[in-house]
Formats: sequence, structure tokens, C-alpha cells
Amino acid sequence: MTAKIIDGELVASRIRDQIADATEKMAREQGFRPGLATVLVGDNPSSRQYVRMKQNRCKKVGILSFGYNLPEESGQDEIEDLVRKLGNDPKIHGILVQLPLPGHLDEEAVLNAVPLHKDVDGFHPVNIGRLSMKERNPLFVPCTPAGVIRLLEEAGAQFEGAEAVVLGRSNIVGLPVAMLLIHRNATVTVCHSRTKNLPAVCRRADILIAAVGRPLMVKADWVKPGAFVIDVGSNRIDDPQSEKGYRWVGDVDFDEVKEVAAALTPSPGGVGPMTIAGLLQNTLQAAQRLEEHKNSGG
Ligand code: GUN
Repeated sequence: MTAKIIDGELVASRIRDQIADATEKMAREQGFRPGLATVLVGDNPSSRQYVRMKQNRCKKVGILSFGYNLPEESGQDEIEDLVRKLGNDPKIHGILVQLPLPGHLDEEAVLNAVPLHKDVDGFHPVNIGRLSMKERNPLFVPCTPAGVIRLLEEAGAQFEGAEAVVLGRSNIVGLPVAMLLIHRNATVTVCHSRTKNLPAVCRRADILIAAVGRPLMVKADWVKPGAFVIDVGSNRIDDPQSEKGYRWVGDVDFDEVKEVAAALTPSPGGVGPMTIAGLLQNTLQAAQRLEEHKNSGG
């Protein structure tokens, strides 16, 4: 079997085009554009790169982007004060605090300072709490997990009664994606560093989500023939053959697994573009909701 390759860049570009149309309409008819504030603390190179990509994409779809870069040694109060100030700024409809924050900061308290209706990353404790319960409708769903589900839908995966295995239990991907799969009536197993006989557990999966940050870990014999495999990993590995001396790979050994799976995302070019498209979508929605609220006299 050779897997259908799920082109995340293509799906994301369709979403971006729709957002660009909607922001132009908003600017034309309502006289304003959605605004996203990004808060980056410290100079972790990957985080800087992610934030830069998010800001560039905003500009390309007509969303205003306001960047706040703070030094690594910033204090808790300073960051919470900034987030609260952005929360009160009417030009800003969405606030993204890039994670992880430096270790001395209380991440939950910072996320708690983001007003719920501007929590376009979906990481506010109330939004995450609602996502983790039945029928509680969070205002926003975290962007990478939402992108994973959208790609599975695009590929034609059936969720109802499927065995889904999630490799990784991070707050950003593993745990929220497990909740989204449960809400779609999949039977979900979440694996982590203490899981015994990992390949055998993964082989049970009709839907396999790899989000552990271990380059090329998932091999062909970890995958059930005909499974849908989503690779969230993005890892830089040394490659003396390449011009730069390194290349990016996922958590899944793409060349091996494409011979077994029914459908598979590449990395790069799979989930990554969907994360940013989801953020743009949430920012547009935040702006639309805030405008409706204003017009209804709220
Ligand atoms: N760090 C890695 N992924 C994400 C994300 O989607 N949002 C934020 N805020 N931080 C991240």
C-alpha cells in the first residue's frame, strides 16, 4: 500500500484565502481589521521562528500584528501587566503568548490573564477546562489539535468507534487532541515515556497521532496497515549531505510508513501550516464576535 499524502500546505492555503477575503470585507464594510498581539519572552530560536511565521502570515491575510518581545529575565508581574493591557486594547482581538515560557514564570497565571474572548490559542484554563468536559463548548480550540482533526477529516478518516493512539501527552498537542478525538467518539489511548511495548500499542491504531518530538521514531512496523497517521513532530537533525548541514524531519519515518498507512502527513508541510491557519481563523472569529457584541450593546 502507498499512503495518500495529506497536503497540509494546500488545505491551509485554502483556509488562508477565505480569511483574506473575510478580512478585506471587514475592512471595507466595517472599517476595521482583526488584530493579533504576540507575546514572546526570551530568545528561544524555535519560538522566535514560530512567532515570526505567525506575524508574517497575519500580514499576508490582512490581520494586523502587534509583536511584544520581552527579555528572558522578565518578571511575572511585568508579563501579566502587559497581557492585561493588551486585553483592554480595542485594536487587539486576539492574544497569543508563545509557549513554553522561561522556567521561572508561572505559565498558568499568565494564560489566566488573557481575557477569554481574546484567547485565540485556546490555552486559557477555562477554555482548556471546557474542552476537557462533555458538551461544554470552549470559545476557542488550540490550533495544532484543531489542525490535526481537520487534516484527518480532509483525508476521510472515520472517527466513530475508531482506535486512536496519541503519542505524547503535552498540554499543547497530546492532551487536547486526545479530548477532540474522544468528543468524536474514538476510543483513545495516550502514550508517554512510561508506556510499555509502545510499538504494539501503536499498531492497534486506526488513527495514529505522533507528537513526541523524537525524530523518525515511528517505524513501518509500528503502524497498522491502512491506518491514518498524522505527524505533528518537527525536529532538526544533522545532515552533512544538505547545504545547511541539517534538515527538518517529523516523529514518523515517512519513507517507511508511507508503504503501510492509508494516509500520512509529511513534516514539514503537514500539520505546521495548519497551526498557523487555525490561529488566523480564531483571530478573525474573535474580531467578529467582539464586533457583534459591541453592536448588540454589550
Ligand atoms: N508553542 C508550540 N506550539 C504553540 C502554539 O500553538 N501556541 C503557543 N502559544 N505556543 C506554542
